[in-house]
Amino acid sequence: MAMSNRRRFLVNAGLLTGAAALPTTTATTTATAAGATARAAPPGDAPTSPSGQPLVDASGRVDWSAVRAQFRLAPDRVHLNAFLLSPHPAPVRAEIDRLRRLMDADPSWVQRAYWGDPSVKEWVRLRASLAGYLGGRPEEIAPVPNTTIGLALVYQGLRVRPGQELFVTEHDHFAHQNAVRLAAARGDAEVRVGRLYDDPATVSVDEVAERLRAAITPRTRAVGVTWVQSSTGVKLPVPVLAEVVARANAGRAEADRCLLVVDGVHGLGAEDADVAALGADIFVSGTHKWLFGPRGTGLVWARPDAWAQLRPVTPSFLRRDPVEPTTADDLVPGGFLAFEHVFAVPAAVDFHRRIGRDRVAARTRELSARLRRGLADTPGVVLHTPLSERLSSGLTCFEVPGLDHHEVADRLAERRIRITNAQYRVPYPRLGTGITNRSEDVDRVLAEIRRLVRS
Ligand SMILES: Cc1ncc(COP(=O)(O)O)c(C=O)c1O
Repeated sequence: MAMSNRRRFLVNAGLLTGAAALPTTTATTTATAAGATARAAPPGDAPTSPSGQPLVDASGRVDWSAVRAQFRLAPDRVHLNAFLLSPHPAPVRAEIDRLRRLMDADPSWVQRAYWGDPSVKEWVRLRASLAGYLGGRPEEIAPVPNTTIGLALVYQGLRVRPGQELFVTEHDHFAHQNAVRLAAARGDAEVRVGRLYDDPATVSVDEVAERLRAAITPRTRAVGVTWVQSSTGVKLPVPVLAEVVARANAGRAEADRCLLVVDGVHGLGAEDADVAALGADIFVSGTHKWLFGPRGTGLVWARPDAWAQLRPVTPSFLRRDPVEPTTADDLVPGGFLAFEHVFAVPAAVDFHRRIGRDRVAARTRELSARLRRGLADTPGVVLHTPLSERLSSGLTCFEVPGLDHHEVADRLAERRIRITNAQYRVPYPRLGTGITNRSEDVDRVLAEIRRLVRS
């Protein structure tokens, strides 16, 4: 059988030798594209425990301590802040190293990654991998450096007419709000900031749906929301909101259609959902939080008709002569990038998929539910995130009356527990549980919070 261009290149470059140069297959839908990862990775990089045992046994049980051992998190601390910026698991570190070595050995490799035929194009591999995870199509995805830049590209690019408005909520991150404000400041649109609920602890699906319905006017060109909100830990029912937007769009012309833009950074990698089927028109997320992807990576996914509603903002290296309609290729910020990070995203996707998106989500949920029940049962603690699983995910916001959010974080840090703060209009101490955590971590932080209340 003829050797593929990609394999020929790797072998010629001396980067695949002996057994490593033999073809291998992987079990994921990105098998062909991700094959190089499996081939070139050093032993111990695959999702197995340090002893070589698989992370998931034949009956589907996950060895969570083996999962944790894939990370270099300091063992003398409890890390309940993994949502801040990803620690890289072993397969991601190995892939970053492999790509760095490739480019150090032969920088011209990057030309092939960018412009080579599809069998060697790293972009193809990257998008196929993300599409498999999101349940979308590769051509619907624009890899971007992070959520913030993705949101900026979307709102700056959105075709709006004077008199139209962009609606965003006070629960959204300032990156989202400012992306909207900066786009509107160019004179095309007005901004309206709304509120979908008053009290996060008692929020209901009907309440957010009704408030959104009331907020959309015929002038509303986009609604920006956050799937899992870092301000409160509330998970919005995106499919329900999508129905509200769809009803408001009935009878509207394409140029008047209201687009639902979702900041999904705290749901991607934490929730078991096909993002492309949530009902959003545009979904923006970093892959460097819950997905544990390389730092400085993210994506914009949009439906094909939504891509056509955007204009390119930065020169793309994937389509040098853009013509209408706009495609995802046009939104990918061009220039040479930190390719060892960008192209290592499939290793993170692969890691998640091998554990199982459903198992990752169940683990995140189980630990968070334990945490929230414990906080709710602690007299003197105010829990702001809903107990309902439908309206919460891996983030939990709470308060210890008498202590401000910095004091809570500082006092826990003294006890070697790392948490963060939700730096919003109303700031709260915030905890996040994920696949790097054990139930002992949850019990430990609960015990320390109870100590704080008593002191
Ligand atoms: C809800 C939300 N959106 C966006 C961001 C910014 O993410 P990124 O670093 O991917 O730009 C954050 C940061 O923590 C966030 O919490």
